Amino acid sequence: MTSEPFDYAAAIRTIPDYPAKGVMFRDITTLLGNPRAFRRTIDELVQPWAGAKIDKVAGIEARGFIIGGAVAHQLSAGFVPIRKKGKLPFETIGMDYALEYGQDRIEIHVDAVEKGERVILVDDLIATGGTAEAAIKLLHETGVKVEAACFIVDLPALGGADKLRALGVAVRTLVA
Ligand code: PRP
Ligand code: HPA
Repeated sequence: MTSEPFDYAAAIRTIPDYPAKGVMFRDITTLLGNPRAFRRTIDELVQPWAGAKIDKVAGIEARGFIIGGAVAHQLSAGFVPIRKKGKLPFETIGMDYALEYGQDRIEIHVDAVEKGERVILVDDLIATGGTAEAAIKLLHETGVKVEAACFIVDLPALGGADKLRALGVAVRTLVA
C-alpha cells in the first residue's frame, strides 16, 4: 500500500437533511463504488494487523457487513454478522442499547465466536458510539478479546470513539 495520503472525505458524499432535517448524512456508497477508494479503505483498515492472528471480524448490520467482509477476507479471518433483533435464524444472545428515542437490540448467534478468540469489530461509521459499545459489550460477554474497533468515518463531536476507548478497546478511523 502506498503511504501517500488519501482524501477519504472527497470520496464520501454528504446528503443534507437526511434522514431528518438538520442531519448531514455521510453516505459511503460513493466510496464503495470507487474501486481505488474501496481498495485503499480496506488496505488501510487492516494494515495494523497484517501478519497478526485475528480469528474473527465482526461486522455491524448493514454497512458493516460490506466493510467487515472485505477486512475478514484480507486477514484470512472468519466473519461474524452482528444483526438487529430477530434477523438471525439460530439461537442468539443480544444486547439492548439506547437510541435518541427508545431502544434497539443487536444479536449474534450463540456459536459465532469461541472463548479466547481475537476479534476485530468493523462498521462504516461511528456517531454516538451506542451501537458499537453494545456490540463490544456483547462480544465481551462471550469471553473473546476485542482487539480493536475500526470505522471509515468518525463523527468526533458525538464522542463515540472515546466511549469505546473507555471500554479498553483501541479505535481506528480513517477520516473525521
Ligand atoms: C448507522 C451506522 C452505524 C450506526 C452509528 O447504522 O452504520 O452502525 O448508525 O451510530 P451510533 O454510533 O450513534 O450508534 P444504522 O443504525 O443507520 O443502520 P443501517 O446500517 O442498518 O442503516
Ligand atoms: N452516515 C451514516 N450513518 C450514520 C450517520 C451518517 O452520517 N450518522 C449516524 N449514522
